[in-house]
Amino acid sequence: MKKFSLKTVKGFNEVLPPESFRWRVVEEKFRELLEGYGFAELRLALLEPTELFARSIGDETDIVEKEMYTFCDRSDRSLTLRPEGTASVVRAYNQYSLGKLNEINKLYYVGPMFRYERPQKGRFRQFHQLGAEVFGEAGFYQDAETLVMLAQFFHELEIKGVVLQLNSLGCENCRPAFRERLQAFLKQRLDALCGDCRRRLDENPLRALDCKNPQCREAVADAPLISESWCTDCREHFAGLRSLLEDVGLEYEVNPKLVRGLDYYTRTTFEFLAGELGAQNAVAAGGRYDRLVEELGGKPTPAFGFAIGFERLMLLVDAGIAPLPRPFAALIALDEEALRLLFPVHVNLNRGVRMTTLGFQQKSLKSQLKKADKDGVEFALIVGSEERARQEAVCRNMKTREQFNLPFVRLEEALRELYDECRRSS
Ligand code: HAM
Repeated sequence: MKKFSLKTVKGFNEVLPPESFRWRVVEEKFRELLEGYGFAELRLALLEPTELFARSIGDETDIVEKEMYTFCDRSDRSLTLRPEGTASVVRAYNQYSLGKLNEINKLYYVGPMFRYERPQKGRFRQFHQLGAEVFGEAGFYQDAETLVMLAQFFHELEIKGVVLQLNSLGCENCRPAFRERLQAFLKQRLDALCGDCRRRLDENPLRALDCKNPQCREAVADAPLISESWCTDCREHFAGLRSLLEDVGLEYEVNPKLVRGLDYYTRTTFEFLAGELGAQNAVAAGGRYDRLVEELGGKPTPAFGFAIGFERLMLLVDAGIAPLPRPFAALIALDEEALRLLFPVHVNLNRGVRMTTLGFQQKSLKSQLKKADKDGVEFALIVGSEERARQEAVCRNMKTREQFNLPFVRLEEALRELYDECRRSS
């Protein structure tokens, strides 16, 4: 028979134990922090009508042009696996009229996103985001609070060396004039631009500012800066944000060429960069998008949000931040009757907390002790024919190698006492 092996689709990231445990701990910390700031979870659909992303992220972006997993379902509807969360949150905000329920809506989400990118370190085709969006706050206080919250998250995870870069992309009042200036500038350098930037020159000239192509980078080195075109409101918004960040001591760099790969942003945009990540160095990113709710059919509503790349975050989190849980004791049965005797002790002790392990295969004492050591348990409780004859189990302190006996009649009770004693002294 032909041997075949089934594997995941290329670039689809899965998380195996023990890493999955660490992911859960970090995710829990994220939830706690966000809920502390008044956010509530939204569990979103993974599949959306393709039009949602074309209209929000923008037709002429890498994501929509090249990276979406799009297909027709059996009714010939074009559907897309979500490449990001913001568009779906805005769709939900409008669909369920969330703006009518609360004046301010603070929502977070956790889950997989899909982009057909070239897989490499920190870049996958199925990856995960921890994201959040706030609706209804137009002022820079919201921008500042969200950035401080993110910085606090990195701090709590003991991640160092993350740099916050900030920019403002202006608004519908001042950006058109900037676009024209930039277009005029780029038209004089057409030969130096890559195919994508040339093609996007009319619809989306800002893309050229953060194109990764070295020739494009050189060509835009002395391009006009959006800050020179900001209207008074945009200037004040950015200055207000900067002074708030300075008040609370959150360091940042202004990067006037930070434009982001999605078209919905207005005013503040930002990225948290970690040098340790190499080429894919953005661990979190986001900004303000005051027009998107309306563009997707809702009432004009200001909004601000971010997404953290979960895989990239975990590359920065030290394993020590989430030590693996260890069972307290290994119950070691050396024969069938011992197994029979220890099984009820095992299940009773695991009610509530995971206290014991019990191997069912009655392997040799040596191999079971080796496994107990590997699991990092504090005690091993051994029962074989000799112990059964004496009606006492041998209890071994795995650290000190000291051994003592525990009578069968109070095995559970004695182990519980030992457990409580150890927890008190640790
Ligand atoms: P984004 O910059 O496309 O923004 O993605 C946010 C973060 O997701 C990135 O900084 C990165 O850490 C991670 N990420 C993106 N693509 C990949 C990938 N292929 N593999 C691994 N990680 C990846 C957004 O998605 C916006 N929705 C953020 C936002 C929320 N803006 C406002 N609200």
